[in-house]
Amino acid sequence: MTSVAVVGASGYIGSELLRILVNHPKIDKIIALSRSLAGKKVSSYLTHLRGFLDVEFINTDLEKLDADFVYVAAPPGEWINSIPAVLDKGIRVVSMGGKFRIKDPLIDSKIYPGFDNTRLMDEVVYGLPELYREQISKARFIANPGCYTTSIILALAPLSSQSKILDLDKIVVSSVSGSSGAGAGPSRFLHHPEMSSNLRPYKVLEHRHTPEMEHILGREYKTNLNISFTPSVGNYSRGILSYVNLFTSHEFDLAQAFTEYHGGEFFIRFIGSDEKTTPNIKDVVNTNFCDLGAYYDGTRKRIFILSATDNLIKGGSGTAVQNMNLMLGFDESLGLESVGLSP
Ligand SMILES: NC(=O)c1ccc[n+]([C@@H]2O[C@H](COP(=O)([O-])OP(=O)(O)OC[C@H]3O[C@@H](n4cnc5c(N)ncnc54)[C@H](OP(=O)(O)O)[C@@H]3O)[C@@H](O)[C@H]2O)c1
Repeated sequence: MTSVAVVGASGYIGSELLRILVNHPKIDKIIALSRSLAGKKVSSYLTHLRGFLDVEFINTDLEKLDADFVYVAAPPGEWINSIPAVLDKGIRVVSMGGKFRIKDPLIDSKIYPGFDNTRLMDEVVYGLPELYREQISKARFIANPGCYTTSIILALAPLSSQSKILDLDKIVVSSVSGSSGAGAGPSRFLHHPEMSSNLRPYKVLEHRHTPEMEHILGREYKTNLNISFTPSVGNYSRGILSYVNLFTSHEFDLAQAFTEYHGGEFFIRFIGSDEKTTPNIKDVVNTNFCDLGAYYDGTRKRIFILSATDNLIKGGSGTAVQNMNLMLGFDESLGLESVGLSP
């Protein structure tokens, strides 16, 4: 009997975790936490879960939780102070937010100020299974990667063995995300009349995922990278498409670099280097896949990589379930094998 609690279950990532967990063959009990909806039936609010999750939202102290595993799908808050006691009870935890993703207490406090990170910094493991599978399977506390970061790290990590011939000082990336990336809270920026028929760039000079991707890729490349990142939000609900440009005058076999690095990864689909075939959002929405294509533009000495993910799944809840599967000794892809939609 394995029981899992989801903090922030009323939000987009929390509810997506519930949707995956109700079909997970090893999970017998799901506890859905919400401060605002405590006492309300989960399926009366998340109506797509009717007949699958007939429990009520509860609101309780994390330290009082009786569960084998906890997901925290909430922004930094008081819950951080409870995590050491939760871990001491033998409960493993995946945090979905940005705090703890950069394993440096000073940088972490600068980007995500306000809560003491010192007690957890030593043991936190960055939860991207394609890079850190070994460490994740032994970890008690995971910081799950950001949605943009996931799509960009998976696109750039395969070239780390070529670091000497790439211009790592000028990597230019833009991404377009569905509006679910901003969470369930309403805002003027994302209000339907503002977003309908629109494409909106935001945080064009500094987004807080940029230091995260530079930090993790810096470890892979064993040197500093300088990534100029521009996000935009599109007029659709879910999915991220990232456009990655980097420069080199040395042409090499991109397909070989990608298939060697990601070879054997079930959730990474390298679709090739022929410009007639490109990753796109529709193929990955509602799945845990990251589709990658990599192309060489000899005229401009440019490597161009496209990366497509579902921000709520591979960019969040799906990777988090991969992490849970590894931490609890289950098959890594359990609960995550759904394919995309067509048309
Ligand atoms: N959306 C994405 O694409 C995405 C992708 C990757 C990672 N993430 C990260 O995942 C986390 C959740 O994102 P989201 O998009 O699901 O946000 P969301 O839709 O705003 O949901 C967050 C939920 O957390 C609860 N909450 C807020 N403050 C809390 C606190 N101090 N303590 C306990 N619960 C609290 C709220 O529910 P109640 O008020 O009902 O308790 C809220 O519904 C964030 O850290 C986000 O950065 C999001």
